[in-house]
Amino acid sequence: MKAVQFNEYGGPEVLKIVEIAEPHAGAGQVRIAVRAVGVNPAEWKIRAGLFGDFMPVTFPSGVGFEAAGIVDEVGEGVTGVSVGDAVFGFGTNTAAEYAVLTSWATKPDDMPFDVAGGLVVASETAIRCLDYVGAKAGDTVLVCGAAGGVGSALVQIARARGITVIGTASTPKHDYLSGLGAIPTTYEPGLASRVKDLAPQGVDAALDLAGAGIIPELVEITGDPARVLSIVDFTAPEHGAQFSPTPQDHPERALAEAARLYSKGALNLHVEKTFPLAQLADAQALSAEGHVTGKLVISVG
Ligand SMILES: NC(=O)c1ccc[n+]([C@@H]2O[C@H](COP(=O)([O-])OP(=O)(O)OC[C@H]3O[C@@H](n4cnc5c(N)ncnc54)[C@H](OP(=O)(O)O)[C@@H]3O)[C@@H](O)[C@H]2O)c1
Repeated sequence: MKAVQFNEYGGPEVLKIVEIAEPHAGAGQVRIAVRAVGVNPAEWKIRAGLFGDFMPVTFPSGVGFEAAGIVDEVGEGVTGVSVGDAVFGFGTNTAAEYAVLTSWATKPDDMPFDVAGGLVVASETAIRCLDYVGAKAGDTVLVCGAAGGVGSALVQIARARGITVIGTASTPKHDYLSGLGAIPTTYEPGLASRVKDLAPQGVDAALDLAGAGIIPELVEITGDPARVLSIVDFTAPEHGAQFSPTPQDHPERALAEAARLYSKGALNLHVEKTFPLAQLADAQALSAEGHVTGKLVISVG
C-alpha cells in the first residue's frame, strides 16, 4: 500500500510516499481503508525533531494519529462494528491507504469523511479540556486559540453544554468565532482587561490552546491556577496550572459524543483545505505557519 513515511528529522521534504506492507488489525483493533486523515501540529513538530527528547521516533516513521474510513478487518475481541462500517478514530501511521485504529466511533451517515477524519483529535481534546477544568452549564470559559482545530470543536461543544465562551483569535477570524458561538477577542496585550469588560462576572476557567506564554495572565484572570489548563505549554505546572499531554482513557466515548452532537446539528468542522496523500508535506508546512482556521485534511483514495 501507499503510505507517507520519513527516515530522518528535518523539513517537510523528508516526507516521502512509499510502498509498504499493509498493517493488520490486532486484538481489540480494527483496520480501515482510509478515506481522510486530519493534520495535527504535533505531526510537523515530531517530524522536525522538536519532540525527540521525550517522544523519540523509530525510523522509518509513519505519520498520522487519526483517520476516517471503512472497516475492512475486525480484530479479535472487537464487538459492535463490522466490515463495511464507516468509522472515525485514533490510530497510528494513519497517513496511508490502510490503517489500524485503536479506538473509534461510528461515523454518522451524513458526516463527510473529511469532517470525520479531522474531528477525532479535535473533539477528544476539546472534551478532555472541558472535563479537566470541570466546566459546567452556566460557566464562562476563556479559550486562547479558539479558531484552530481544537478550538473550533471546543467552542461548539462548550456551547452545546450551556457554557459561555470567550475565544481569542486575530481580528479577521472574529466573524468565524462568532459563527461558532464564541464571544471573540484578540490575543494582543491587555487580554485581562478585555476579558473583564466582556465578562464582568468573571471567568470560571481558562484554556490555553496556543502556547503563547500566557499562563500567568490566565491564572490572574481566573484567580485560581487549578482552573487553568494548557495542552501546549509545558511550563503550566510551574504556575500551578494543569497540563494535559495525551488523550484520556476511553477516547471512543468522546468520539461518540462528537458524533451525537454532529447529528443534532450542534457540532461541525470547517475544513480549510484538503490535500491528496502525496501532498502531505504541503499540508504540514501550512500547519506549521500556525494560522489554520478549523482543520487541514488529507483525502485518501
Ligand atoms: N496536548 C494535547 O493533547 C494536544 C492535542 C491536540 C493539539 N495539541 C496542541 O494544541 C495546539 C492547538 O492545536 P490545533 O490543532 O487547534 O492547532 P491549529 O489548528 O494549528 O491552530 C491554529 C490556530 O491557532 C491560532 N493562534 C496562533 N497563535 C495564536 C495566539 N498567540 N493566540 C491565540 N490563537 C493563536 C491561529 O489563529 P490566528 O490565525 O487568528 O492567529 C489559528 O487559527 C497545537 O500546538 C497542538 O500541537 C495538543
